[in-house]
Amino acid sequence: MISKELQENLKNSSWIRKMFVEGAALKKIYGDDNVYDFSLGNPYFEPPAKVVKNLRDLVNSDQLGTHKYMDNAGFPDVRQKIADDTNKDIIEPLTHEHVMMTVGAAGGMNVIMRTILDPGQEVMIIAPYFAEYIFYIKNHNGVPVVVNADPKTFEPDLALLESKITSKTRAIIINTPNNPTGVIYSEEMLKELASIIERKEAEIGHEIFLISDEPYKALIYDGVKAPNIHNYFKNSLIVNSYSKSLGLAGERIGYIAMNSKIEDVQMLMAGFAFANRTLGFVNAPAIWQKVVADSLDDSVDISEYKKRRDVLYNHLTSIGFEMVKPDGAFYLFPKAMIEDDVAFVMEAKKYNLLLVPGSGFGFPGYFRISYCVDMAMIERSLDAFTKLAESYKK
Ligand SMILES: Cc1ncc(COP(=O)(O)O)c(C=O)c1O
Repeated sequence: MISKELQENLKNSSWIRKMFVEGAALKKIYGDDNVYDFSLGNPYFEPPAKVVKNLRDLVNSDQLGTHKYMDNAGFPDVRQKIADDTNKDIIEPLTHEHVMMTVGAAGGMNVIMRTILDPGQEVMIIAPYFAEYIFYIKNHNGVPVVVNADPKTFEPDLALLESKITSKTRAIIINTPNNPTGVIYSEEMLKELASIIERKEAEIGHEIFLISDEPYKALIYDGVKAPNIHNYFKNSLIVNSYSKSLGLAGERIGYIAMNSKIEDVQMLMAGFAFANRTLGFVNAPAIWQKVVADSLDDSVDISEYKKRRDVLYNHLTSIGFEMVKPDGAFYLFPKAMIEDDVAFVMEAKKYNLLLVPGSGFGFPGYFRISYCVDMAMIERSLDAFTKLAESYKK
């Protein structure tokens, strides 16, 4: 009934979904309060009050024309507001001509792949990676090429990355702050990556796009700064969304912001708009474009996520788990206490802990904890983590 490729994909795709389903079954047996589900990256907090007010105001106003078809790139005034917002930390400013509104970051990634890829061209991803990238690339006849991160920092292993660039390389996807590690890429690493790309572009004779997927850009702790990617690269594309920063994951609203240094900005934008239309998105949701444009200074309460990170990080490291302390997003990515991460996650289930194995992110030997959950559940779960750790010390 469905294609062989999709049958295969369905079998192998989502560890996260698998654990979520397991969790639902456990809750039936043990009750909601006794199962500790850290599997899903679904934003925990409701959208900020100002976002809700902006939505109400807009719905109650008579803004004629808001609900019609529009430019496939989105409302020009909204795109300009987003460009102005992005310009806060950028050297060469953007205008609305560099911004396209998308159906979330996922929609933006698919639009980019559709626009830039010829069949068989390669797109590099860094493991551990957000597993959907594989499908976004394959959707548009591209070939994913995996490069491992260095587990000491979870930044890309640049020597390995350079060795894998070929004449078929069309793009490199980075994700900072990162899902699943929470790591924010350093300025030094970005500078080095930029010089590798520049060198390789000259060698292979075509541009290599640096795609920076940044839906967690607003979720950063302790005053750490995530560098603006456009300041380091030439052919860079930022993909962002309001799924996490404003808790709007179900509303499907985001954008692509291209570097103003790109040689043919108009051609690229025409390609994006065409792809947006013909992939069937047509344009990003009209009302949500207007709402987010008036909520750009807002965000969910980041200090609440930080509290959750601190409680879990402090407890887990105190009982022997090793991990890089994350500065952003809402994930921890500790080392499993045995080599087989899937077996480890299955063992954790015996303590009613639902975790996702690193294998689901192309990086075995580790596991992901998603802490966008109720604080009380985190506190109740600490004992279970201690028992799990102790079971490996006997
Ligand atoms: C790294 C990463 N990229 C993209 C997305 C998709 O985001 P959106 O809801 O904006 O499509 C997610 C969602 O979890 C993500 O973790």
